[in-house]
Amino acid sequence: MKILTLETTCDETAAAVVTDELEVLSSVVASQVDLHKIYGGVVPEIAARAHVERLLPVVDETLRQADVALADLDAVAVAHTPGLAGSLLVGLSAAKAFCVAADLPLVGVNHLHAHIYACRLAAGRDVFPCLGLIVSGGHSSLYECHTAGDFHYLGGTIDDAAGEAFDKVAVMLGLPYPGGPSVSRAAVNGDRRAYQFPRSFLREPDKIAFSFSGLKTAVRYAIAGPGRVDFSQLDLSPQQVADVAASFQEAVVDSLVGKTIAAAEKTGLSTVCVGGGVAANQRLREELAIAAEQRGWELHIAPMALCTDNAVMGAIAIEKIRAGQFDSLELDIVPGLVRQ
Ligand code: KG4
Ligand code: ZN
Repeated sequence: MKILTLETTCDETAAAVVTDELEVLSSVVASQVDLHKIYGGVVPEIAARAHVERLLPVVDETLRQADVALADLDAVAVAHTPGLAGSLLVGLSAAKAFCVAADLPLVGVNHLHAHIYACRLAAGRDVFPCLGLIVSGGHSSLYECHTAGDFHYLGGTIDDAAGEAFDKVAVMLGLPYPGGPSVSRAAVNGDRRAYQFPRSFLREPDKIAFSFSGLKTAVRYAIAGPGRVDFSQLDLSPQQVADVAASFQEAVVDSLVGKTIAAAEKTGLSTVCVGGGVAANQRLREELAIAAEQRGWELHIAPMALCTDNAVMGAIAIEKIRAGQFDSLELDIVPGLVRQ
């Protein structure tokens, strides 16, 4: 069996062809970084329009690389929740059109479940049940993942996501978008203890929650004080930038790792899977590896290529197909976070 998977939840236009053996026949990701760079963040309207322009060329290229025609496929899968409404609509509409044109069944995929499924794909074997940490530009959440399609929400951010905090702090420090890679690059030469930034809820071990909004404000106060400020006019030395970046990154990593430990203790789960763009962060990977070593966890962090958005992780659709869970052409987008 071969399926086409589509991913347009945010700002990457991606497609892949995967088999029921979870073999990846092709994968194409068209990044929109260049379009959003000047704004320091994703502009939803621009993202949706770019998906419209790029989706068909991306699908053509994906089918060409896999050496299959639409008629050779057995289903079309598409991430339909959660994400930016306009972006999701482009992917779902295209998926439905392919289904109608080639008389194929449609399978809707939960993008967050797919981020965790990236760990299953890399492991090459079952990883469920597991504790799932999803850290991306839009989400910072912990789930008890019973199976690939049965997630129980344990807790997450009460305000901004970790990736969003990286992106905003990058703007404050005059570093390029996307902020995650540029802040972590700057942090390499910085002192992690130069600034004492807040780690929310770490003194409340029973609470599974994150908050990164206060951390953003603390960074702002540390470099510019209160009041109106034009960050492009701040005159920070390279060492100051490095120290703020390192201290900020450490606060994010401490929060994420601390609450992952708390959630593992609460649930008794000892397999931990981590996915999403922020899972590409080297300090986070290091600290998770230390926590895993100390606690005897089986730790799976998505490989770098499958951390940020891609369509390969849409292979989770194979699990739904095996369970006979197809969707009708009435399937709609669900932009908001569905906590399951
Ligand atoms: O999963 P993703 O590609 O898109 C969403 O579903 O949101 O995640 C994108 C986020 C961005 O906020 C980006 O700054 C962050 O992941 N990111 C990182 C790193 N690489 C990407 N954050 C921290 N460290 C990184 N190395
Ligand atoms: Zn994502």
